[in-house]
Amino acid sequence: MAQEFDVVVIGGGPGGYVAAIRAAQLGFKTACVESNPYADPNGEPRLGGTCLNVGCIPSKALLRSSELYDEAHLGFVMHGIKAENVTIDVDVMVKRKDNIVTQLTSGIRGLFKKNKVAFLPGHGSFVAREGERWLLDVAGKSGTERVSATHVIVATGSRARHLPGIPVDNQIVCDNEGALSFSSVPKRLGVIGAGVIGLELGSVWKRLGSEVTILEAMPDFLAAADQDVAKEAWKTFTQKQGLNIQLGVKINAVTAGDDGVRIEYDAADDTPAVLECDKLIVSVGRIPNTDGLNGAAVGLTLDAKGHIEVDGHCATSLPNVWAVGDVVRGPMLAHKGMEEGVMVAELIAGQAGHVNYDAIPWVIYTHPEIAWVGKTEQQLKAEGIQYRAGKIPFMANGRALGQGDTTGFVKMLACAQTDRILGVHIIGAAASELVSEAVVAMEFGASSEDIARICHGHPTLSEVMHEAALAVDKRPLHF
Ligand code: FAD
Ligand code: NAI
Repeated sequence: MAQEFDVVVIGGGPGGYVAAIRAAQLGFKTACVESNPYADPNGEPRLGGTCLNVGCIPSKALLRSSELYDEAHLGFVMHGIKAENVTIDVDVMVKRKDNIVTQLTSGIRGLFKKNKVAFLPGHGSFVAREGERWLLDVAGKSGTERVSATHVIVATGSRARHLPGIPVDNQIVCDNEGALSFSSVPKRLGVIGAGVIGLELGSVWKRLGSEVTILEAMPDFLAAADQDVAKEAWKTFTQKQGLNIQLGVKINAVTAGDDGVRIEYDAADDTPAVLECDKLIVSVGRIPNTDGLNGAAVGLTLDAKGHIEVDGHCATSLPNVWAVGDVVRGPMLAHKGMEEGVMVAELIAGQAGHVNYDAIPWVIYTHPEIAWVGKTEQQLKAEGIQYRAGKIPFMANGRALGQGDTTGFVKMLACAQTDRILGVHIIGAAASELVSEAVVAMEFGASSEDIARICHGHPTLSEVMHEAALAVDKRPLHF
């Protein structure tokens, strides 16, 4: 007899585990199925998905370690602090990162216990619809268990896209998984793809001493970001930090051996070129995980990009089957998946679950950080929307000067007619935290004048947001 649940979630990443917890909080008998190959100390699949195991959390741990090394190495001098013979023990750095991952992934097991979510270790797949219920199989270590559910939430996430003819062994040629666990600093590191992972992980290894070359297919740098921000980032990363980023390239061949890798490519002007390096990171986007779900057999439809097709509320084409996170359209971001998980659980409970896709922040954790919410200036122009812009550099801020970190700016874009904030774009220290004020403002439909009239602590970096709002009305006080 199949175990019966009100809600079964397939996938225990940020979309899935949050959906499961919220469903259980709302009184549903809930289970979460997870088949992660990474085992916890008890030999069971780790919860937390890409984000906790091989994504957001481990990358931010390494970014922090490398920032501290960089500070000690290059940043202390301006404060009169001498730190000689600064060295990095990569083994210790990677173990610290691993410990954080273990702590957080087992923390989710604790949250499941607290909220009475049943954990079903194993690979989940659809079997059939029987009356008003879905039958699912969970293939675990000790065999296959049949379960049934009134509602199914698919949260199977995504995996790294690989390029044809470039096998990833995660030793020499790595995707995000191998790139988070190098055992030493490679002398020469190649990266294919100047997207978010390429820039974040490229920065980590550059700070620790690698010569980093990033090969990007597109002619534009950070095309999704506001172009002012992209220009500032380009200048900082290439001129100040020494990342060698080549745009508009075409990769022709990659040959890997035990002692390195050779990449043959055409440069932007079509000249043939060769890059030889000790390790290569391939970070060219991610693809949704829909294989092995047996979705097609039960009628689950995919969109043109291979995502599970859903409406604005994450309902699929099948009754009581929902899908959230990286496996559906929209930005592949942990917080977007979590919000969708909450929305779906609340909709199942008959509540008014909702995600405002126009107010999802983006953050790139380089140094300086890059963060934005809402429309870019180029999007507003393309859509013919009249706007006013206010832009203030961190150089004009006392706290930034005190901290010795003055790169970048805050740029606010507001509707020319209503003054409603349409987008905020930040490049600078703590951009990841500062952007939250803009997200709140946009969720509340605030105008730039609202931010301009709010008292901001002094001296704080948030005063740059305040000044940018004042600058929309051409009346900044400190610039
Ligand atoms: P996932 O986290 O991919 O989880 C899906 C889970 O489902 C996996 O554990 C998988 O094992 C399991 N699964 C799949 N199929 C089955 C099945 N049939 N049965 C059982 N289980 C199954 N996002 C941010 O917002 N901020 C960041 O800083 C950030 N940094 C990142 C850094 C890197 C290097 C990478 C690779 C990604 C980063 N992301 C970041 C993206 C973020 O990790 C993803 O958007 C997020 O993890 C997606 O959550 P999800 O629940 O949809 O899927
Ligand atoms: P990405 O989409 O950010 O960047 C991929 C880059 O590779 C693009 O610039 C693309 O033009 C380039 N590219 C594609 N094919 C290429 C080829 N053949 N040759 C050269 N360049 C090529 O993808 P990335 O960096 O792999 O990250 C995947 C996703 O993970 C991100 O889109 C994001 O959703 C998520 N992520 C989020 C982070 C954050 O929020 N801070 C951090 C890291 C990842």
